[in-house]
Amino acid sequence: MTTAQVVNPATEQIVSEVELFGVAETDAAIERAHRAAADWREVAPGDRARLLRRFAEAVDANLERLARLEVANAGHTIGNARWEAGNVRDVLHYVAGIPERLLGSQIPVAGGVNITFHEPLGVVGVIVPWNFPMPIAAWGFGPALAAGNTVVLKPAELTPLTAIRLGELALEAGLPEGVFQVLPGKGSVVGQRFVTHPAVRKVVFTGSTEVGKAIMAGCAQQVKRVTLELGGKSANIVFADADVERAAATAPYGVFDNAGQDCCARSRILVQRSIFDRFLELLEPAVRGIRVGDPSDEATEMGPLISAAHRERVAAFVEPSTEIAFTGTRRDGPGFWYPPTVVLPGAPTERILTEEVFGPVVAVLPFDDEADALRIANDSEYGLSGSIWTSDVGRALRVSRGVEAGNLSVNSHSSVRYWTPFGGFKQSGLGRELGPDAALAFTETKNVFIAAS
Ligand code: TAP
Repeated sequence: MTTAQVVNPATEQIVSEVELFGVAETDAAIERAHRAAADWREVAPGDRARLLRRFAEAVDANLERLARLEVANAGHTIGNARWEAGNVRDVLHYVAGIPERLLGSQIPVAGGVNITFHEPLGVVGVIVPWNFPMPIAAWGFGPALAAGNTVVLKPAELTPLTAIRLGELALEAGLPEGVFQVLPGKGSVVGQRFVTHPAVRKVVFTGSTEVGKAIMAGCAQQVKRVTLELGGKSANIVFADADVERAAATAPYGVFDNAGQDCCARSRILVQRSIFDRFLELLEPAVRGIRVGDPSDEATEMGPLISAAHRERVAAFVEPSTEIAFTGTRRDGPGFWYPPTVVLPGAPTERILTEEVFGPVVAVLPFDDEADALRIANDSEYGLSGSIWTSDVGRALRVSRGVEAGNLSVNSHSSVRYWTPFGGFKQSGLGRELGPDAALAFTETKNVFIAAS
């Protein structure tokens, strides 16, 4: 096996060295998962539920350690990292309710009885990006395991440490060997094998739209099921009738959380023209006030970017001709730092308005009326999330229905709750994760007619 160094993005120090799976090791793991699937689907629903609850409790008992590991590996602020580990625990508790409630239906027919079953798919491959290594992993493996599938999971090469620990905790909690395996390795090797190996019946992918399209095309060869959670270019729409102070004070947290490395980042702020100047005046101190620094410090609100290469990619979006309104704290020294940056774009075709930056750069632009706001918000190939700030309930409803995106919030910036569905319109993805129907994405519906005579 080859190895890869894991680097702390806040210090550039090497945290650990991890062995990478090659094709042969990946195939062996998929075979183990395939063999384990036959028994796992037969585990009594109550027992499967109990094992998932034990897994949740093991995560809870290790919450602080998992959070510290994420701070060191991904540069997440300690507050965020604790939330992320807690989210894994909560997802597991939530999906532990699934095995005993995976209800089929009895449909009236003549001459017999008709019933439906939700059958597990078999082996599910989950491919995880580096921006939220713990939650995104759990949104895939949690419901997949609950529905009776076995899981092979590939963390991003940059951020494998918490996933590896979750794999160990699953075993310690009593999940049988082969039911949940973590395979660190390259996307082009391990991830690609999930696409081509016939025993893997579904791929859950979160990451760039470019790789997502290639995975979907690859899966088409075997009519393999896919769920895709891809990029975003979400709009935060602020109407003149909103609580402008609150909208401006919270806007930085809607885009700069996790240093903007969030597919739900509201990276376009659309402000009604009559309050545009006032909004910018209020936004400036809010952005300058963001505490950028050591992610293990409890007071820190924004840490570094994930890597030097990613910082270069982010920086390239701010061209010499880009009008910068203001920036927040700039940090020097070791670490992949980039300051919170607010830009005023020119033409609607500028890259900063059409492409996902995935860093702490936000564009602010004016609109005239409701129709104009919707036109600009929907002028994107993406459609993942967004926010609407208004005090008019009717407008909140109209605009919520008009924005082409999967996850909207009114007078807030929340996108993700494990008990509500999450996913994108257009090129932001395919399918939904989380919420009450999460397990159905990991089953086939089987219809059985039994003749009564
Ligand atoms: P991707 O290349 O899409 O990586 C995401 C995951 O897919 C990683 O685990 C990666 O593995 C794996 N992967 C890469 N190539 C693959 C292939 N051919 N077959 C199967 N799996 C493959 O994203 P990135 O390069 O890390 O980031 C680039 C941009 O993508 C970002 O700047 C951002 O715009 C976007 N992005 C979006 C999201 C979300 S949440 N929507 C998350 C991350 C990135 P390795 O990294 O180990 O090679």
